[in-house]
Amino acid sequence: MKSSFVLGALSLLAASTGVSATMTVPNSLFLKSIAESVSLPMFTWSANGTHTAKGYTSKAGDKTSVEGMKEDCDNINLNKKISVDFRSDVFGPGLIGYFYKCEKIRDDTNLYWFTISSGNPSQIDKMCDPNTNYPIVFDSQHNTWWIDEPFDCTQRTSPVAHSQ
Ligand SMILES: *[C@@H]1O[C@H](CO)[C@@H](O)[C@H](O)[C@H]1NC(C)=O
Repeated sequence: MKSSFVLGALSLLAASTGVSATMTVPNSLFLKSIAESVSLPMFTWSANGTHTAKGYTSKAGDKTSVEGMKEDCDNINLNKKISVDFRSDVFGPGLIGYFYKCEKIRDDTNLYWFTISSGNPSQIDKMCDPNTNYPIVFDSQHNTWWIDEPFDCTQRTSPVAHSQ
């Protein structure tokens, strides 16, 4: 049971950081601690890729939140971000997102690199579906209203693939 937590955490972190020798640290106190504190399930489905988002100063979404978008991007590049129950308004609880790189690609658009993990594969299916809609959502940390655009999944893994 404990090693399954660790495997889940390793796959979550490995896909996003490019660490290749992860299997040499199966007893990592650090990864086990993360997996336990975010309640990562025994078996996880994961995906990685990129997605874009636009930030606005109000719910009406008519004026770009220049500062909020820059702060969010800088913060992710400096500190990375793990989001537990990511967009639970859309997916329900249980999706764990890791955001580790951001780039401003247009005046009104940030591009984010993500790895996402869940014990429920239908949540990953829904997130990787380009037709999934994301209602505008308020982020008090950056005082910004966000429109998440579709998530472009480049790679997906299942628990079976993990154990090979
Ligand atoms: C997804 O993970 C694979 C395997 O680690 C990696 O080659 C690829 O660059 C990643 N994709 C993105 C968008 O980070």
